Amino acid sequence: MKMDGVLKLYFGESNLPTPDYIKRAASKAMEDGYTYYSENAGLPGLRQDLAAYYRRVHDVALDPQAEIVVTASGVQALNLGIRCLLNPGDEALVLTPVWPNGAAIIRMDNAIPVEVPLPLCGDRYAVDFDALRAALTPRTRLLLYTSPSNPLGWVASDAEQDGLLAFARRHDLWLVADEVYDRLYYAGPSLGTPAPSILRKATRRDALLVTQSFSKTFCMTGWRLGWLIARRDVAEKAAQLNEFVVSHATSFIQRAAQSALAHGEEELLRMLERLRDNRDFCLDALRRLPGVTVPAPDGAFYVFPRIDGLIDSFAFCWKLLHETKLGIAPGVAFGAGGEGSVRICYAAERAILEPAMERFARFLSTSWD
Ligand SMILES: Cc1ncc(COP(=O)(O)O)c(C=O)c1O
Repeated sequence: MKMDGVLKLYFGESNLPTPDYIKRAASKAMEDGYTYYSENAGLPGLRQDLAAYYRRVHDVALDPQAEIVVTASGVQALNLGIRCLLNPGDEALVLTPVWPNGAAIIRMDNAIPVEVPLPLCGDRYAVDFDALRAALTPRTRLLLYTSPSNPLGWVASDAEQDGLLAFARRHDLWLVADEVYDRLYYAGPSLGTPAPSILRKATRRDALLVTQSFSKTFCMTGWRLGWLIARRDVAEKAAQLNEFVVSHATSFIQRAAQSALAHGEEELLRMLERLRDNRDFCLDALRRLPGVTVPAPDGAFYVFPRIDGLIDSFAFCWKLLHETKLGIAPGVAFGAGGEGSVRICYAAERAILEPAMERFARFLSTSWD
């Protein structure tokens, strides 16, 4: 953080600022008096708009009063939701490599995360259902997966979604789906089509909890706003529990988020075009390098190249940073299956990505190990 001249590709956010219309909506909301306490589950108007957004974007019908809880970020949605589901000593299956906060939250609840890696099968990561079955114990209560995935860019296929839902139903588990990157998806019939939500397959009576965020889709990382969707008994508990955590997300930010939902599609499309170009540029540059395997990510904004012979990704990234001033994230940070790879965030401008890929290639051509 303190070094000058570092090309920073270790962050999990776009370098685009929050669009002006959202900033203006927040100012107006403050002027309009959205500076008081509001409902624990979020402004009713925002929950209604979220339900309308799901109908429009995912073709899913939700009850805004009973099935949606607004939270102060995606990570708070995970925290609140998981806390409602686990007792101390319970076990939770977590598909890895993955952003580590889910497993950390499980530990904070005095429960035990059991990591089950997604193996790389050919040019695609895939769910290993045999490994999931083998990891079950009588204490297993929950299965957490992230699709689109940070750091893999993996998106659960139709068959994998069916399989995960059937597995959860058969073994009486809660299925927790982190879908914060659903709009950053490049494999749909057209850009802007979301990654299919598990909500399309599940019924509202299923033991399902989906966590979501305004951070990635609307470039609102610093605003701290998200939501969760859950079966109504758990949604009700989550809203009650929120009283003792943050009470509710900031009122004027919730109001600004209503504008994001109403007017965000054009900016989103522009960002997606840019991200897809960046992804293709990075894939092309990385695939030229000997000893590097990199599956094409279908979603999010990361590539996760695997490097032959890499056994200490932390040391690799440290040396890369100090010798070339390129900052990327070590794969080991993302749990089981992550060692041997590194994560590169490609949501930066080309003027950064181009020299970054050059530095990476040059470093790999030296005796880095
Ligand atoms: C997979 C995943 N889930 C959730 C989040 C949380 O997003 P936020 O707390 O900014 O809403 C992130 C952020 O990087 C993420 O990568």
